[in-house]
Amino acid sequence: MTAIHCLNGPNLNLLGTREPGIYGAATLADIEHDLHERAVRLDIALTFRQTNHEGELVSFVQEAGRAGAGVLINAAAYTHTSIALRDAIAGTGVTAVEIHLSNVHAREAFRHVSLIAPVCAGVIAGFGPYSYLAGLDALAHLLRGRSSPPLKISAS
Ligand code: DQA
Repeated sequence: MTAIHCLNGPNLNLLGTREPGIYGAATLADIEHDLHERAVRLDIALTFRQTNHEGELVSFVQEAGRAGAGVLINAAAYTHTSIALRDAIAGTGVTAVEIHLSNVHAREAFRHVSLIAPVCAGVIAGFGPYSYLAGLDALAHLLRGRSSPPLKISAS
């Protein structure tokens, strides 16, 4: 079974009340619930985690690497600052997809730079909670393309 770890960085535990004009009304628990439903349909073993600490996020990436899992990551503010996180993704060799709720390129200039994008397979940003679902689909597609038959998504 394909394994994917969805890793969430700082302040994403505040979703629902945090700047709802930018991030919307869904809580992280809502997003986790919908992602789990999608993962079941795609036959993916999903692990969902959040931390406010940079080092812990690095450890989560290393754990995903040891487990042979792909990484779906919303690194939040650490996207723009963390060389350690970039090195963890590069150093473990995990296949990672970077996601964001908001369109970071339509926001402040400091959000236009991602230190992790160059070591991720791709980036999805700006679709609210749907960024997580699209990211899961894209990552499953990548992982299965490398190791097993093509992904079949049944309509329902
Ligand atoms: C975010 C965008 C980041 O710039 C910001 O620091 C976040 C959330 C997003 O999902 O839109 O915390 O990653």
